[in-house]
Amino acid sequence: VISSANSLRPVQKAHDLLLAGADPLDAVVEGVKIQELDPTDMSVGYGGLPNADGVVQLDASCMHGPMKRAGAVGALEGIKTAAEVAKLVLKYTTHIMLVGEGAKRFALSYGFKEEDLLTDASRQAWLEWRATLSPRDNWIDVPARTPMVVHPPTGTINCNAVTPTGDIASVTTTAGLAWKIPGRVGDSPIIGAGQYCDNEVGASGSTGLGELNIMVCGAFLTVDG
Ligand code: GLY
Repeated sequence: VISSANSLRPVQKAHDLLLAGADPLDAVVEGVKIQELDPTDMSVGYGGLPNADGVVQLDASCMHGPMKRAGAVGALEGIKTAAEVAKLVLKYTTHIMLVGEGAKRFALSYGFKEEDLLTDASRQAWLEWRATLSPRDNWIDVPARTPMVVHPPTGTINCNAVTPTGDIASVTTTAGLAWKIPGRVGDSPIIGAGQYCDNEVGASGSTGLGELNIMVCGAFLTVDG
């Protein structure tokens, strides 16, 4: 099991599940769920940093190597564990990506509870960001001469696993870019960008600024490029 730096507990959990004979996708989704439910991890799930309106919108995707299938959700509100919902899209539909209100209704139909994903800490962080805004602000400052570089807070989990018999699965979950424009979807739910899995080759996924990764199809390029 391999994962991003915020995933020591998810890696341990997924590893334990694999050794107990679990399916690799079930193992990684159960693993990242630990962070999604942890209010102190402000990069994913419950407690993730919100968009410009103060609303948490989650993105997630996953792939199952043996089944050659994928599932994803984008801009999902009110549900703590986006990766689980992405797994249900993979498992129980012929679609790959559900977004926004439709993704939420899909999750609710499977018994997920709608909850406020803001914590006191993430709300406070949003209030502090909002206090620095002016009505004349652009979304980014574009310097006249120097290259355009922006560093908004990002954070994500990608977790990939291989079983002793060589089956592979991958998952990526995130609250996305903090203070993003409502409706912005990053790389995490995009198959081939946020994560990618080919049972014959391997799996890969990304954290960091999604816009850069979308432009190079980073996960696909790493696995099959
Ligand atoms: N990589 C997470 C995002 O940009 O949304």
